[in-house]
Parts: sequence; structure tokens; C-alpha cells
Amino acid sequence: MKILFINACREEGSRTKTLADRVLSRMSGEITEVALNKEKITPVFDDVLSMRDRLIEQGRLDDEMFGYARQFADADEIVIAAPFWDLSFPSALKAYFEVINVVGITFSYSTDGTPVGHCRAKRLIYVSSAGGYTGEDAFGFGYVRALCESLYSIKNTVRFCAEGLDIDGADVDEILKREIKKIDNYFDSEVI
Ligand SMILES: Cc1cc2nc3c(=O)[nH]c(=O)nc-3n(C[C@H](O)[C@H](O)[C@H](O)COP(=O)(O)O)c2cc1C
Repeated sequence: MKILFINACREEGSRTKTLADRVLSRMSGEITEVALNKEKITPVFDDVLSMRDRLIEQGRLDDEMFGYARQFADADEIVIAAPFWDLSFPSALKAYFEVINVVGITFSYSTDGTPVGHCRAKRLIYVSSAGGYTGEDAFGFGYVRALCESLYSIKNTVRFCAEGLDIDGADVDEILKREIKKIDNYFDSEVI
């Protein structure tokens, strides 16, 4: 079982990462981490887009440029950890999505123009934490869920998010403990 862990957290003291570690500890398989703070993936600027279009046209999907996309498509399980930033998530994660959204690898278009996903994963778990309250339709997760449903054909998206952590007087440990309990309950009731 190949678990792909896409980590958009700060390297030190991240509450989101604490929750993600709990999720990963409840899963079995070989974990490969893409640490976005280290990878420093650049957005898809014009020159990159031109090269990528040329490679796709030539059918060279095995080019190293598409390594992240192939890795994503090939994962059995996907876990994303991303703090709630500016009503969504860090732009490093958006840059990652730009790089993996490659026609012919993670998805393609059917003859009527509907996207069809080519991703092996059946489930994506999205882990986050927020200073305030995100609401049910939090942009960050909503966007990731839309990508899963519309492009990747990953039907099952699950979200864990500890909220209200930066509110004056918040009991951070207690909030995190509650979210960890939710994570444990989810995995305890999982039908394998
Ligand atoms: C750049 C930045 C933007 C943020 N934007 C928001 C926001 O829009 N709404 C919110 O509730 N909290 C926001 N926060 C607070 C974080 O969501 C909160 O501190 C979160 O727990 C950080 O996760 P971490 O401990 O894993 O780094 C922001 C924090 C940073 C650093």
C-alpha cells in the first residue's frame, strides 16, 4: 500500500502536522512524503507550460517533469496536511496541484469533454487547522474535494480540522485532543 503524504505545514511547531501524524499512524503502508517547504515547487509559468505542452504532444509522459503527477496518480492513499491560510491553504499547495494536473496522467478528457480521473487512490484525507472557524464549506477543503470529484475520480474525501486555535483564551491542547479523538473514532469504525 503506497501512502502519499503531501505536507504543506511549517517545519516546526505545526498543529496541523500533529494531526496529520496521528492520521498517518493509523494507516498501514509505505509512506512517501512530499514536503512542500523543502521541494519549493514553482507555479506553472509560461516557459514551463510551453515545455509541458510540447512533452504531452510528443507523448513523453515519462519525462521527469511529470514525476509528481505520476507519483500522485500511482498512490493507493493520499493524505494532505495544510494549515488554513487566507481562507484556504498555502499557495505552495496550489503550485503542487498545478504541477500534478497533467492531462494523460492524473486525468484526461472524454470525447464529450468531461474529465475522467486516472488516479488509483480511492480516498484522500485532508488535514488542517485554523486560527478561527472555517465553516463547513471551507474554501481550501472545498477546492480539494472538487478536484478529487471532478478531475481525479477520487470519490471519498475526508477532512479533519482543529478550529479556533488562535482565539484568545483557546485551550489549544484540548482542541487538538478533541480532533485526535475524531481521527481515532474514524479509523476505529473503518470497515477494512
Ligand atoms: C499566513 C497565514 C494566514 C492565515 N490565515 C488564516 C485565515 O484566513 N483564517 C483563520 O482562521 N486563520 C488563519 N491563520 C491562522 C492559522 O490557520 C492557524 O494558526 C493554524 O493553526 C496554523 O497551523 P499550523 O499550526 O499547522 O501552522 C493564518 C495563519 C498564517 C500564518
